[in-house]
Amino acid sequence: MARLLYIKANPKPCDQSLTYRLSDVFIQAYQQAHPTDEVEVLDLYQTIMPIMDYERLSRYNQGIETEIKQIAEQFKSYDKCVIAAPVWNHSFPAMLKVYLDNIIYRHVTFTYQDGKMLGLCSEMKVLYITSSGQVYDGERKFLDHHQSQIKAIFDLIGLTQVEVVGLLGRNRLSNEQLLQEVGKLQGELQQKAQIF
Ligand SMILES: Cc1cc2nc3c(=O)[nH]c(=O)nc-3n(C[C@H](O)[C@H](O)[C@H](O)COP(=O)(O)O)c2cc1C
Repeated sequence: MARLLYIKANPKPCDQSLTYRLSDVFIQAYQQAHPTDEVEVLDLYQTIMPIMDYERLSRYNQGIETEIKQIAEQFKSYDKCVIAAPVWNHSFPAMLKVYLDNIIYRHVTFTYQDGKMLGLCSEMKVLYITSSGQVYDGERKFLDHHQSQIKAIFDLIGLTQVEVVGLLGRNRLSNEQLLQEVGKLQGELQQKAQIF
């Protein structure tokens, strides 16, 4: 039996979120395909995550910050992780960054070897599901701080199996095209859920 963490990083209700229209389909298909697996939901807009303020940072530097350490330990205990987050201001919503700052914890999710960071979560699989208004290609590629940041942060903790599925550039689509694109991606996600 595997354990999957479903991280939701959008304040919108499910029925109003394009990102959740994709990620919820994936999770439903996953549960059907893996009925004995455990799926836990972490809604970052319904959960108060600790902020790395000065006091916590001091404790963190001394290796005695227990609250954040527990969050990192809990994250590490999952086999798989699905993140649903829209693109906001070329990146992802701040709640997700707060969470990511919590799970990068020394000697829990990474350690040091020969003076370099060594990730300790290499066994975990991650699927990042997103959607955006615009497309980040050509001259605008350098503005893509959502996919690149997610991959770079997870790389710190050894997570190299990060797959991204997104409906990118919804603003260029008519309503009809958007529906078609959503249907196509939902189908792809249902397929992916069988083997994730
Ligand atoms: C606060 C905010 C900031 C956004 N910033 C960007 C952006 O920088 N780039 C972009 O392509 N789309 C941006 N968008 C558009 C969303 O990424 C897009 O509408 C997405 O599909 C929303 O997903 P949702 O329906 O799941 O919330 C922004 C939307 C909001 C609400």
